[in-house]
Amino acid sequence: MITAYDYPFAQIAEEAGVDAIIVGDSLAIVVQGHDTTLPVSMDEMIYHTKMVSRAANRAMVIADMPYLSYQVSNEDAVRNAGRFLKEAGAHAVKLEGGSEAAQTVQRLTKAEIPVMAHIGLTPQAIYRMGGYKIQGRTEEAAKRLVEDAKLLESAGAFSIVLEAIPAALAQQITGILAIPTIGIGGGPYCDGQVLVMHDVLGMFDRFMPKFIKKYANLKSDAIAAVSKYREEVENGTFPGSGHSF
Ligand code: KIV
Repeated sequence: MITAYDYPFAQIAEEAGVDAIIVGDSLAIVVQGHDTTLPVSMDEMIYHTKMVSRAANRAMVIADMPYLSYQVSNEDAVRNAGRFLKEAGAHAVKLEGGSEAAQTVQRLTKAEIPVMAHIGLTPQAIYRMGGYKIQGRTEEAAKRLVEDAKLLESAGAFSIVLEAIPAALAQQITGILAIPTIGIGGGPYCDGQVLVMHDVLGMFDRFMPKFIKKYANLKSDAIAAVSKYREEVENGTFPGSGHSF
């Protein structure tokens, strides 16, 4: 699984053969330029999901429920999650949270909305967690995450993201659950993996957690290309006769 936020990047994910594309609320940071995921709105997430759905003919499209779109009431949650399926072409939604989110997962599942859960480092809780920190390091915290994972599975989640937790804990949770675990900073024993597209392609360099692997350097390639274009316009080599009528 990988993130995408618009048509061209979703096309890349689709043509690269990934199983699922998540329209993550991480777009608040890597596309909109915010410091956290909190500011992105429901309408903005719908807009981005629509673009991704147009490119995804084979891959599953999962829309991330933004902050305050599901925490206030289950009624809000059903209405907002339903919009992703009804208006934006998503096949499922993802939401963050442990035991406190289980009831919402159950309610959405009852409304025929497939839900991916997300525990461990949950970026919408950045201020409670005190930053982007590894979770589940103490015995008590690890136990709580195992219990959360079991509860979310019983509530109907079809899969669960495990973010920034020790590999051994992710392995334990993966062994206990019947639903697939998707790791991001959860080590190699999860059933699947997810990364942010802009990190994979080297397009975002404001911060780089240890769990990210950069597979390309598109930001520096793009700067070199645009600089060359600027130079050629300034020194008169572009447009040449081959680019003129
Ligand atoms: O917001 C996001 O992109 C995510 C995925 C990395 C799982 O939550």
